[in-house]
Amino acid sequence: MKNDKNIVSIVGTRPNFIKLAPVYHNLAGKINHKIIHTGQHYDFEMSDIFFKEFKLPVPEFNLSIGSAPPSHQIGEMMKRIEDIFNEHEFELVIVYGDTNSTLAGALAASKANLKLAHVEAGIRSFDRSMPEEINRILTDNLSDYLFAPTDMAVENIKNADLPGQVYQTGDLSVETLQEYLPMSEDSRILTRLNIDHDSYILFTMHRAENTLHSESLLSIIKVMERITETMIVFPIHPRTKGVLELNNLYKRISSCKNVKIIEPIGYVDFVQLARNSTKIVTDSSGIQKESYLLSIPCVTLRNNTEWVETVHEGWNKLVGTDSEKIIKAILEWFPHNDKQKQIFGNGNTSKVISDKILEAVE
Ligand code: UD1
Repeated sequence: MKNDKNIVSIVGTRPNFIKLAPVYHNLAGKINHKIIHTGQHYDFEMSDIFFKEFKLPVPEFNLSIGSAPPSHQIGEMMKRIEDIFNEHEFELVIVYGDTNSTLAGALAASKANLKLAHVEAGIRSFDRSMPEEINRILTDNLSDYLFAPTDMAVENIKNADLPGQVYQTGDLSVETLQEYLPMSEDSRILTRLNIDHDSYILFTMHRAENTLHSESLLSIIKVMERITETMIVFPIHPRTKGVLELNNLYKRISSCKNVKIIEPIGYVDFVQLARNSTKIVTDSSGIQKESYLLSIPCVTLRNNTEWVETVHEGWNKLVGTDSEKIIKAILEWFPHNDKQKQIFGNGNTSKVISDKILEAVE
């Protein structure tokens, strides 16, 4: 029987939409579930394409926040979310991951005295200079229900002695990949880019700590200029593109013969590009998990990670932004553990989360 209470998910960025999709579909028909889109990501390639591919409805509320310095962005989101909370009655709020939209949603829910559930709770890089780490710590502290993807996330929550109830759920990326891998076979992205499988490296970079430091940017550019034997495919994040253009570096990268810079792509094309690459080089959080699940070695352009398990199993190497280290890791073979992948659970995460949410609002 359908529960007649109202709940709301707050999302705003590409990684939020990817996590929302399986939870949304699992809750469909079981409860009234609305979506607030903060508008932190707003282009077709960063937002609408995911709503389309994941068959998510147009959000009931769109705050159209766009780009702004973080405190302006979070403050403005909170104000507009509070207005919605004043006009509509919600029993529970769900937030996802670690973005500014996540934190704004969590703070607004807490100020309105609403129950708060955090999907992907408890993960830590233990690097407080990352905006995402602060967003996670604060959101976890405010949450009543902490949906932790891994053993380590549960341990982190216990060590922090947080007040909310913790549930180990597995990670949503397992079921999303299971569902979309077959579809990715129909993707035309390799033909469109005129590349063969197993002939290129997939490269992504967007983190503030990398894009806002000219040293890191220059070091990455050196890598692109020196890896001439292998094609590098680089779906570029708008932030990175903006910074490169501002520093007159965009032309320098795009003139490298072996580098294909492309616009951000949807999930299906991304999975097809990732699974057919020889290696993935990235500073993303989610892509480290996906490369592990797809058994593609990952070179991570950071000195720490929230997914240390992927490093322990040999699939992921942390190299920071030193060009020599990056090149060495790109060229070497990774001795890895080939046993069945268990870190992120068996793909029933959205059901576990949905069941707990329905229980929480009974
Ligand atoms: C955010 C998240 C990060 C996540 C990433 C994935 C925070 C603190 N960081 O970083 O955790 O991994 O998203 O993408 O929330 N832009 C567009 N069009 C869009 C979207 C963004 O042009 O559709 C541009 C904006 O102009 C801005 C940048 O991209 O320059 C977005 O920056 P920001 O809102 O800080 O988020 P991300 O860097 O994407």
